[in-house]
Amino acid sequence: MTGVGIDDISIYTPEYYYSLHDLVIAHGIDPNKYLVGIGQERMAVPPPDEDVVSMAANAVAPLLTRQLRDTVSTVIFATESGIDQSKSAGLFVHGLLGLNPHCRVVEFKQACYSATAGIQLAADLVRQRPMEKVLVIASDIARYERGSEGECTQGAGAVAMVISANPRLLELHPVSGLYSVDVMDFWRPNHRSTACVDGKLSIDVYLRSLAEAWADYRRKGGLPLGAVDKLCFHQPFTRMAKKAFAALSEAAGSEAAHLDESCYADSQIYGRAIGNTYSASLYIGLCSLLDRCGEDLGGRTIGLFSYGSGAVGEFFTATVKPQYRRHLRAEAHRAMLDSRRRLDGRTYAAWFYDAPSQAEDRVFPQESRGRFRLAAIEGQRRIYAAASSEPARAAA
Ligand code: COA
Repeated sequence: MTGVGIDDISIYTPEYYYSLHDLVIAHGIDPNKYLVGIGQERMAVPPPDEDVVSMAANAVAPLLTRQLRDTVSTVIFATESGIDQSKSAGLFVHGLLGLNPHCRVVEFKQACYSATAGIQLAADLVRQRPMEKVLVIASDIARYERGSEGECTQGAGAVAMVISANPRLLELHPVSGLYSVDVMDFWRPNHRSTACVDGKLSIDVYLRSLAEAWADYRRKGGLPLGAVDKLCFHQPFTRMAKKAFAALSEAAGSEAAHLDESCYADSQIYGRAIGNTYSASLYIGLCSLLDRCGEDLGGRTIGLFSYGSGAVGEFFTATVKPQYRRHLRAEAHRAMLDSRRRLDGRTYAAWFYDAPSQAEDRVFPQESRGRFRLAAIEGQRRIYAAASSEPARAAA
């Protein structure tokens, strides 16, 4: 076996966005606070018939070959805005996409970090049984109180990745640096649809976690920063990457001398246009870097930092495969982002803040344009459907 890593990647974000130019007007503040100080331009807004499951299924659909459908051994669904306290959101995706039944399906949660735990577990499963493929999905809707400081960082989206032996895109290195600490910087009690956050504390803990995870990575024999060509940070808002780069450069000292802010700039393009996607954010950033970097990254090393409030941080590295460009979906991603529609303030607020309660039966008119959507709620069950077809009901 010549290595394990990301063999394929696809992202999905809803068809609608709210412009931060409109949000600054609503909030009556200087536009540069959001556009420069926070570094966001648009937030993706899910219509009522879109949730973390439909977004996930729409992210996975382009990856699905018959061979993958038959050989996937494990589905790991990472989310912090899950739709059920018991059943894994991954099982809805498993049903919608007709994955083989001889497969384990599980949901992972640890704020914005959990997809990284999913990828590391997936890589170890594949190292043990190289014929298997693992599907890691991250899907989230980032929702804060209306009018709060966090509102400008909201967003929605999903990423799906296939982890395999001999990957076509990215080979993961075995060393990773870890840091965990019990802290209340961001959390969402079960009764709430919006997050509680101590924003300034969350930035401090993020940066402390980065320095600690980096030190752990180096202690365990990880590469010096001098051997890293590009960086990709968890981006709750794109300006956070600037703070992360400064903190990592300080921690790494002279090893960072060859790097400047251009080393992470391409990883910010999608996040700036989509907003925070919690567990998906780092990997949407990675996809942005691979899709949009003008240089050929084949053979180059990427350093990745994953952070989830609460808090867990992980620093790890990966090597880009020589022919990776042939296997990207850059044009499809560009078309998806370019064809989105701008929402007015009233529709944004109605859609973003009136998330449908599962307690009442409801049928959703089709607003989303993905292949899969939330069609109805019946008897406290979510009913999903392929677009323009009858609702798909889970087997009794
Ligand atoms: N032009 C340019 N920059 C401006 C500006 C203007 N007119 N007005 C403010 N800024 C800058 C500030 O200087 C600051 O920059 P800095 O962070 O480099 O110092 C930045 O914009 C943010 O301003 P601030 O006053 O700190 O914003 P805020 O109090 O509204 O809160 C967050 C910002 C990130 C804390 C808030 O959006 C939040 O809670 N987000 C959710 C939690 C989160 O994403 N945490 C991240 C770690 S997981």
